[in-house]
Amino acid sequence: MLVTRQPVFRKFWHAVMPLTELAAGPKPFRLLGEDIVLFIDADGQPAALRDRCCHRTAKLSKGWCVDGQGKACGQGALQCGYHGWTYDRSGQVIRIPQYEADRKISPEYRTTAYRCTARYGYAWVALEEPIADIPDIPEFADPGYRTIFQFHEEWQTSPMRALENSFDNSHFSFVHRATFGVAASPKPSKYELVENESGFYAETVIEATNPPRFHAISGVTDAITTRHMRNAYFLPFSRRLDIEYPSGVRHIIINCFTPIDDGRMQLCQWLFRNDTEADCAAQMLIDFDAEITREDKDILESTDPDALVDTRRRGVEYSMESDRPGMLIRKHLMQLLAKHGEAEVHRGSSAGQVITTTVRAELVEASRSASTSSA
Ligand code: FES
Ligand SMILES: [Fe+2]
Repeated sequence: MLVTRQPVFRKFWHAVMPLTELAAGPKPFRLLGEDIVLFIDADGQPAALRDRCCHRTAKLSKGWCVDGQGKACGQGALQCGYHGWTYDRSGQVIRIPQYEADRKISPEYRTTAYRCTARYGYAWVALEEPIADIPDIPEFADPGYRTIFQFHEEWQTSPMRALENSFDNSHFSFVHRATFGVAASPKPSKYELVENESGFYAETVIEATNPPRFHAISGVTDAITTRHMRNAYFLPFSRRLDIEYPSGVRHIIINCFTPIDDGRMQLCQWLFRNDTEADCAAQMLIDFDAEITREDKDILESTDPDALVDTRRRGVEYSMESDRPGMLIRKHLMQLLAKHGEAEVHRGSSAGQVITTTVRAELVEASRSASTSSA
């Protein structure tokens, strides 16, 4: 699937950038193939515009924020770095420094503005009117948990690859054999899967190697411990992994796999813990998850980002029983596409493919029968 060719993903909120990154001024980002610029407006709220000045097309992300008098400042309107045309968060040009002060500016002088909001320490962007809310993260406001901003980094893969990896119990003994994977137990534990409207919930208990350097993280000292995993998928590219150790320590990871373009995504990872800094330092937790995450990144960047989603395409990728969560992700994505009149677009699709009523009916039917057979 080529994410930039599936318009429905433009109708979801995507986690784009930690707000702290914007404190130093406007920053560029590519979301679903669109070049956007983010900045903090005069009210302190993040804003997102197309990264292209309507004067001579310079990238607005090369500019800076200005106050009402046109003086450079940390937050305010966005001034183009080429000739100084200045934009508000609606994309309207509100100041042209070369004009006399009382000269009117044409309302046509504007660039595209996108929906942008602050949540959980990030700027979130939806390129079109969103059809779903930003996933709920109750621990963010819960005094019983501390929030650790772990990662936001670019990976040369697609959200589909990262998502299915995050539910895949069969890779631990191989990809993570140097960290928590138990190389001698390659048979995956079985997930209990419960589907819901926005995705599914998957629960299992796995064995995990627990060397002394992991004791503060797990809160237990056994050589091999267990992790009670409560893993949930949210359409289209988010997941929540709640790990409970026998010590009662909870290690809750939230991931948004933000689609950059057809070959790249951004990993956004928040961690919530119900212990304290004295029990386990935040930096140790970041280093621990970074090591594991590097292992996933390394193997995922070797996969083809154009992941198979429409499983009726035979002979492209083969599956086994433990791929069931990945197959359910595909089913939910196919249902979403069908609902919005789209078929999977991949490298082999004919250019400018138009979905006909018959194909659409077939897709809806296929996703229905997949849903019945998986019940
Ligand atoms: S290109 Fe932006 S002001 Fe001229
Ligand atoms: Fe992994």
